[in-house]
Amino acid sequence: MRRDSIIHFSRHWRGRPDNLENKTFVRAANSKRETSAVGVDALRIWHPFTSAGAGAELPRIVRGEGAWLFTDDGRRILDAISSWWVNLHGHAHPRIANAIAEQARQLEHVLLAGFVHEPVERLAEELRRVVPPALKHVFFSDDGSTAVEVALKMAVQFWRNIGRPEKNEIVALERGYHGDTAGAMSVSDDSTFTAAFTRMRFPVHRVHSAYCYRCPVGLKRELCHIECADSLEKLLMERGDKIAAVIVEPLLQGAGGMIVHPAEFLQRVRKLTESQNVLLIADEVLTGFGRCGAMFASELAAVSPDVMCVSKGITGGFLALGATLVTERIFKAFGGDDPAHTFWHGHSYTGNPIACAAAVANLEIFRTEPVFERIARIARIHAERLPEFSRNAVVGDVRTIGTMAAIELRAGDAGYLSAMRPRLYEYFLKRDILLRPLGNVIYILPPYCIEAEDLHRVYGVIEEAIGAVA
Ligand SMILES: Cc1ncc(COP(=O)(O)O)c(C=O)c1O
Repeated sequence: MRRDSIIHFSRHWRGRPDNLENKTFVRAANSKRETSAVGVDALRIWHPFTSAGAGAELPRIVRGEGAWLFTDDGRRILDAISSWWVNLHGHAHPRIANAIAEQARQLEHVLLAGFVHEPVERLAEELRRVVPPALKHVFFSDDGSTAVEVALKMAVQFWRNIGRPEKNEIVALERGYHGDTAGAMSVSDDSTFTAAFTRMRFPVHRVHSAYCYRCPVGLKRELCHIECADSLEKLLMERGDKIAAVIVEPLLQGAGGMIVHPAEFLQRVRKLTESQNVLLIADEVLTGFGRCGAMFASELAAVSPDVMCVSKGITGGFLALGATLVTERIFKAFGGDDPAHTFWHGHSYTGNPIACAAAVANLEIFRTEPVFERIARIARIHAERLPEFSRNAVVGDVRTIGTMAAIELRAGDAGYLSAMRPRLYEYFLKRDILLRPLGNVIYILPPYCIEAEDLHRVYGVIEEAIGAVA
């Protein structure tokens, strides 16, 4: 915000002298260090997933390149979690940066209701080439949460449109996470994140996930027959005629603790939903675009969902964009003359041309650079390094899929709020590595371009951290 506009804003607020914002803006306007981060940042910017006002001395990032972030005071920080799982090919990748600049000069935005434009057409075509073939139609939104909201609303309205309005209940998995908006939060499992919002969340059926380390039905993977899916089977047998959809994070539950499922679990979920005439929503917001070793996790299990949500990596980590893909059968139910059958949903920036251009450039990189070789190299390093951790007495479990590796530490206070989390985070950041453990679960999820020696260094620092902190 420019200095004169800050002063103007503070005048506007003069009638409320005790207002915190007023004080903040006046102080900022008087400050000679308006562009400096330290202190000013903590007063003005409310950071996500952060206690309000905490962290007055945050690293101030001025530049990114490859897997590295550069601060204004000369530090270089290795981004080992792809900036919340979004970055794929490296920060400031020139191909995506150029596509954005070019598109911004041509057409920055036009509403997508009643209009179309080349970037959105190209993206729809590019997506069609990589998603499961049955997913023929795409609805664009803003991010992962909105892609999920769209999927849930579509699932419920689909049944209503085809004359089955009683099929309106949703099933979700234990330890699932699907975003922070009200619907996405409803299907996410109960947690610290959702505790304040009980009344805002619509009720869902919650069934077991395939968390083999803490098996919900007390079995060992070597001997089991995916009995964890029995709770879903029972529910669908009893109430399938009331259920619209089952939503899952396919093969990898992210925020719930980087839990890797056997492919057989997803396969069984697909079989059950198919046989009981219930839609399957695959939330590939995290797992999409190569994260798990194939373009989509569903592909690894040879499963084709009815609805798929994507976001995060879709633009290579440059811009927010969500997409919900559906089958012909679902799309068709929303057409015709009856206005009650229309999907009355949209966001101001739906199909934004700049975000679409970034996504097209991202998918071109998949075609023109050896992206899957890079992914395979990361997976090999994970496979090579993780066994040494499983021999450590404080490590309860190690798990990996594609570019993700997780080390779950034994903890009396296991969970997101484990006391280990801030200590580990600080330990890593002091050593110029960005890792944000999910409580007692340390995980690595790097951009695909990370150098092998940098990834090995991350493992070295994790080993030291476990010795020092755990
Ligand atoms: C599986 C999954 N779904 C949805 C979301 C929400 O995405 P966003 O943060 O872009 O709203 C996330 C975010 O981490 C996610 O991991």
